[in-house]
Amino acid sequence: EQIGKNGYEDYMIKEIFEQPQAIRQTLGSYLKGDEVSLPFIISKEELDKIDSITIIACGTASYAGRVGEYLLEKLTRIPVKVEVGSEYRYKDPIIDDKKLIIILSQSGETADTIAGMREAIKRGAKVIGVTNVKGSTVSRELEYVIHTLAGPEVSVASTKAFTTQLLSLYLIGLYIGKERDQIDAEKYKQSIDTLRILPEKISGILNNKKAVEEVASKLSKYENMFYIGRNSDFPICLEGSHKLKEISYIHAEAYEAGELKHGALALVTEDVPVICLSTIEHVFDKMVSNITEVQARKAIIINIRHENIPSIDNVDSEIIIPAIDDLFTPILAIIPLQLLAYYTAKFRGCDIDQPRNLAKSVTVE
Ligand code: G6P
Repeated sequence: EQIGKNGYEDYMIKEIFEQPQAIRQTLGSYLKGDEVSLPFIISKEELDKIDSITIIACGTASYAGRVGEYLLEKLTRIPVKVEVGSEYRYKDPIIDDKKLIIILSQSGETADTIAGMREAIKRGAKVIGVTNVKGSTVSRELEYVIHTLAGPEVSVASTKAFTTQLLSLYLIGLYIGKERDQIDAEKYKQSIDTLRILPEKISGILNNKKAVEEVASKLSKYENMFYIGRNSDFPICLEGSHKLKEISYIHAEAYEAGELKHGALALVTEDVPVICLSTIEHVFDKMVSNITEVQARKAIIINIRHENIPSIDNVDSEIIIPAIDDLFTPILAIIPLQLLAYYTAKFRGCDIDQPRNLAKSVTVE
C-alpha cells in the first residue's frame, strides 16, 4: 500500500483516529463564517419545488443514508426515503423533477449506486452526489457534488467516510432547511456552532478507547448480539452491527428497540449480549422499558448514553459520550461502536483490514 499505517496496527484503527481531522477538513471547505457554503447553488425556487428526497447508496453509505432520513426530515420537513442501489435500479422507480436524489458513495464507483444515479438523471430528478474520491464516476457525472475530505480510506470497513457522509447530510439539511424557511436564525447558528465542536468531541471519545476495549474483551467470546436503539440511535445500531459483522464475524442484528418484542426478543438469552444506544433524550424513558425487557432475559447489557442522560440500573457496562444537541448526536454515537467492532475483532484474532469475502469497492454487480 502506498499510504502507510503511520504507526497504527491496522488501517481501520488509523482511519478511526483520523475522524476529527476528516471532519475538520470537510467543515473547513463547506462552512464560510457562520454559513453553510456548498460548492453549488440550487435556486430557492427549485428547492421550494422538492416534495421528497430519496437517498441511494450501498453498505455503510446506506446506513449513513438511514441516519439522514431522521436528520433531513427534521431539518427540511421533506419526507426522506433510503434505497439500496441493487433494489432501486430494478424497481422502475417513481422519479420526477420534484424529487431530490442524494447519492452517497465513498468510492464514487459502486456499480449498483451508479446505476441508480444514472436512472435518476435520465428521469429528470435533481441529483446531489456525496463522494470521497475526486474524479470518480459520481464526481464526474453529476453537476452538484460534495467531496468529503476524509482522505483515502483503505480499510474495507468504512469509518471516516461514514462520519463525513453524515456531516455532508447535515450540511445539505441545513442548506435546504434554511432556504425553505424551516430553520430559524438562532437554531441555524446553534447548529453551525455544534458542527464546529464535533472534532473535539470525537477526540474526547477516542481518548476513552480503553473503556471500550475492556467491553470488547468481554464480548469477544459470544457468537450472537443485538443492537437496539430508538430514533436516530436505530440507524447507528444498523451501522454498528454491520461493522461488527464485517470484521469480527459475530452474528449481529440491529432492531428498533420497540420492535424487539414483536419477534426477536425470543432469541435473547444470557448468551446474547445486547448493545443499547440510549443517547436520544425524548425517547429515553421508552429505552429504559426496552432495556428492562432484555434484562429480564438475563442478557448482558452494554449501555451507551451521553453524559446528561441518567445511568440505568444493573447494566453490565456503560460507555459515556459527550452531550450535544440530539440532532447531531449520531455522529458521536457511532464512534464507540466503531471501536467496539475493532477491538472485539482484534481479540478474536481477525484480519481487520482484509475481512473474508469482502472488497473495498464493488464495481461489478
Ligand atoms: C463495499 C465496502 C463497504 C462500502 C460499500 C459501499 O461493500 O466494503 O465498506 O460501504 O461497498 O461503497 P461506496 O464506495 O459506494 O460507499
